[in-house]
Amino acid sequence: MIRFEHVGLRYGIGPEVLSDINFTLEPGTFHFLTGPSGAGKTSLLRLMYLGRRPTRGLINMFGQNVNGLSREQMAPLRQRIGMVFQNFRLLPHLSAFDNVALPLRIQGKTEKETKDNVDELLQWVGLGDHMHSIPSTLSGGQQQRIAIARAVIARPKLLLADEPTGNLDDEIGFRLMSLFEQLNRMGTTIVIATHNNQLMDRFHHLRLVLEGGHLKTEEPKNWIQRKVEGVIKA
Ligand SMILES: Nc1ncnc2c1ncn2[C@@H]1O[C@H](COP(=O)(O)OP(=O)(O)OP(=O)(O)O)[C@@H](O)[C@H]1O
Ligand SMILES: [Mg+2]
Repeated sequence: MIRFEHVGLRYGIGPEVLSDINFTLEPGTFHFLTGPSGAGKTSLLRLMYLGRRPTRGLINMFGQNVNGLSREQMAPLRQRIGMVFQNFRLLPHLSAFDNVALPLRIQGKTEKETKDNVDELLQWVGLGDHMHSIPSTLSGGQQQRIAIARAVIARPKLLLADEPTGNLDDEIGFRLMSLFEQLNRMGTTIVIATHNNQLMDRFHHLRLVLEGGHLKTEEPKNWIQRKVEGVIKA
């Protein structure tokens, strides 16, 4: 699904914020991406979302080397990716409903199908009463839920989420995690950037850990123990 080989990134003439990043994400996997503030989580997601080109190294997405692709050639790849941005990036002049409907309309779904799907998902994330509100009239947590709904509505092949539960209380945060897990069971590959240790302890997924621009893979602390107990199927 994703392969990075010796990838580096710098902004302008600044230092390398990502150095020699190597990893492969298999289709259908679920990873947390973690590390201290400023470690480069958002930058790494930006590369995976094809929002920026690496300064060096190779990136392969969906079996395609993306280094040589033009912006136009990247567009169909990007349509397979759902992205929840750290700062949401909702369209300010569109209602919650129209923001979430956008990916379905781009895919050419009928208005009836779009309405049914968007209504159901907005109800599910607890925004049934705010479908026609514009983002600036809603709280941070409500805007975050719109951003999540927009990212998942078209069932992307790859879902990237940057601190998607940052503005949410535990209950709604866990509810949205279960939405991601449901999507993952249906085949979506998922990467979630988070600082939230409680979330990572509760949901047992592999961790990509960024530190000082380098990436390593870690298993959750009690992962092995739980395997032994048979809680998680090996
Ligand atoms: N657009 C940009 N231009 C210049 N430098 C940037 C830009 N975006 C990020 N950086 C720098 O890259 C480094 C990594 O930033 P990034 O936002 O990827 O970290 P992060 O791990 O997502 O942090 P946080 O947990 O606070 O969201 C930081 O030193 C930051 O200052
Ligand atoms: Mg960030």
